[in-house]
Amino acid sequence: MKIAMIHGQNHMGSTYHIARLLADKLAEKEEIREFFLPRDLPHVCLGCYQCIEDDAKCPYYQEKQAIATAMEGAELLIFTTPNYCMGPTAQMKALLDLLFTFWMTHRPRAWMFGKKAVVISTTAGMGAGRAIRGVKSSLVNWGIPYIKSYGTGVQAKNWAGVKAEKKAKIEKDMEKLARKLGRVGRPRVGLKTRFIFAMMANMHRAGWDSSPVERQYWEARGWLGKARPWKRQG
Ligand SMILES: Cc1cc2nc3c(=O)[nH]c(=O)nc-3n(C[C@H](O)[C@H](O)[C@H](O)COP(=O)(O)O)c2cc1C
Repeated sequence: MKIAMIHGQNHMGSTYHIARLLADKLAEKEEIREFFLPRDLPHVCLGCYQCIEDDAKCPYYQEKQAIATAMEGAELLIFTTPNYCMGPTAQMKALLDLLFTFWMTHRPRAWMFGKKAVVISTTAGMGAGRAIRGVKSSLVNWGIPYIKSYGTGVQAKNWAGVKAEKKAKIEKDMEKLARKLGRVGRPRVGLKTRFIFAMMANMHRAGWDSSPVERQYWEARGWLGKARPWKRQG
């Protein structure tokens, strides 16, 4: 299974190791493409709105495109972030901001509707769920129909500090999650995604776009009519 991993940190701590446990059960090493933030995208959104007119006009387009291309070519996307002050890391948030044209509000990518994703977070005490939610809301709005998450308190600053019993529990959990993910082929697009898509189609029909480019994008794909990105055309 081809996997794209987006790490919301440069270092290989608990969050990284848990994600690798999962990925290594699902894919050969050569099938796994990893990105580390901020190493592979050392930028934050400038709020220039150039991307709304044309994604290639973003000053950081090339670095973003490398990540987007890897995501497009993968069957499974794995996002990792430790809990930093009850949310995802700033660099993970920066990536999500820089990809905001992927939202169904703007110009969702048709290929997103066929992806599976997992969001993994660790925390010393509490808050892994909050970090996960900070990532998951973008993935839902990008149109990813199948999203699993795994958050856990490790009571440690790094992987070496995680107790052996905790590591054994994590290993079991990853085996279970890998089995689940291995059983799912192309995911079914559920009611929630269909509902958001229909609402956004209505919005673009009504011309409530951030730019006329958005309506043109939806119209060209037939999404203002009956065509849907998860349905085969023709
Ligand atoms: C900047 C920063 C903020 C953190 N904020 C919290 C927090 O709000 N609550 C908490 O329980 N742990 C917090 N932690 C601890 C980490 O979430 C925890 O050690 C995590 O397992 C680290 O994952 P890693 O080994 O992948 O880096 C914070 C750590 C850092 C460096």
